[in-house]
Amino acid sequence: MRITVSLGPRDINQHSGVSSVSSKARLAKNLKVKGHFPEGVTLESEFHRVMDILASTGVNYPPGYCEMLISKYKKQGLLYPHIFMRVGKPNIRKHGRYQEILEKRGSLLDYGCGTGDDIRTLVHDGYPREKIVGYDVNWSSINLGFDLYMDQDKWTERFVVSKKFPFQPSTFDIVYSGSVLHVLGTKRAIKIYVSNAYSVLKPTGTFFGSTLGFSKEHPRLTGKRWKWRGWRLRRLKRLSQEALHKLLREAGFSDVEVSQESNSDKLRLWFYAQKP
Ligand SMILES: C[S@@+](CC[C@H](N)C(=O)[O-])C[C@H]1O[C@@H](n2cnc3c(N)ncnc32)[C@H](O)[C@@H]1O
Repeated sequence: MRITVSLGPRDINQHSGVSSVSSKARLAKNLKVKGHFPEGVTLESEFHRVMDILASTGVNYPPGYCEMLISKYKKQGLLYPHIFMRVGKPNIRKHGRYQEILEKRGSLLDYGCGTGDDIRTLVHDGYPREKIVGYDVNWSSINLGFDLYMDQDKWTERFVVSKKFPFQPSTFDIVYSGSVLHVLGTKRAIKIYVSNAYSVLKPTGTFFGSTLGFSKEHPRLTGKRWKWRGWRLRRLKRLSQEALHKLLREAGFSDVEVSQESNSDKLRLWFYAQKP
């Protein structure tokens, strides 16, 4: 599999053509924080909570490591606090077709991988690491994943970062998309994303994942009630179950399934589709 890398992860400059994030000033300039923690949650409390979860799954932190990370991210900021808050609770395992995906074992792209929580979960559950690529448009959350899991040496080669979608058509057997559609902002951006997912799949390939949606019972979360959360909710583009179904069909997918699940204030759409 040929992979094009246009930006390197923090502290790593081993690929040709790679420009690593070298100076603090540049990092600060590029790091536009895209959210805040909800009321009652702090960066400190979240690091303790998330690292307790990961420690219980076998990550062995040296003494003082948690405090070191807190101090680092207090200085540098966290681009996506809500992605951080999800670490240790991977959505991929909740997908109704997860067991089937584990059995397929084809080449798999995590399109918009964030910290890489989902692909680490796949490998933990038996998926071959060498078949997986995590792709994102920046290193921010991927680097956070390296810090939290302390496994940069094992995983660096499996991640690709590029502002432009870097893969050739018909490269993967499976594309996973976890909570990406609703952050894309516009219908046009969603269409481009879905069309890339279609194109990068081999014939008979599988596109699956989830996104936040809306329905009559769960209207788009806008207005004063949500402002305190500061999550830039107006920028989230939520689709209805019908709209997502139609979008996948129009992109060329067949056997499209979209189911919805509500939990308290959120509606999540789970999808699964095949490239003919
Ligand atoms: C809400 S996060 C979800 C991360 C991860 N998939 C998860 O479930 O935790 C959305 C991710 O999509 C990435 N993203 C946004 N636009 C993208 C695009 N056009 N192509 C690929 N990734 C994108 C963001 O950088 C971010 O890491």
